Amino acid sequence: MKTAILTLMVASTMMMASSGADLYNKCASCHGSMGEKKALGKSKVINEMSKDEIIIALKGYKDGSYGAAMKGLMKGQVSKLTDDDISSLASYIASVKK
Ligand code: HEC
Repeated sequence: MKTAILTLMVASTMMMASSGADLYNKCASCHGSMGEKKALGKSKVINEMSKDEIIIALKGYKDGSYGAAMKGLMKGQVSKLTDDDISSLASYIASVKK
């Protein structure tokens, strides 16, 4: 019985944290389902970037220190993400099948 309760608690904690794959759903329309497209013909192919490069880019869009002509658009995409979200997203994108 104790084990069952513990299992439930662990399962619900895992469901609260958004996975990188879930978070990536809203990015796929521009970057491609596997991060393989140049978004709107402008961005780098993000699945070729390392996890660290992606984190620098996403945090930079958030605070305005990174980006090119269309950085305003990406700022809107990342403004609500937490550092944990950004880290999960970066792991997911860097690990996705190329
Ligand atoms: C409406 C289209 C669109 C959506 C949705 C979008 N992006 Fe982007 N993304 C772009 C464009 C355009 C750029 C290039 C921006 C610039 O000029 O710096 C970009 C740039 C990037 C870069 C840096 C690549 C580079 O060229 O340096 C990363 C990483 C990235 N996006 C990840 C994401 C993630 C993660 C999401 C979802 C949370 C997302 N994007 C959602 C269009 C989009």
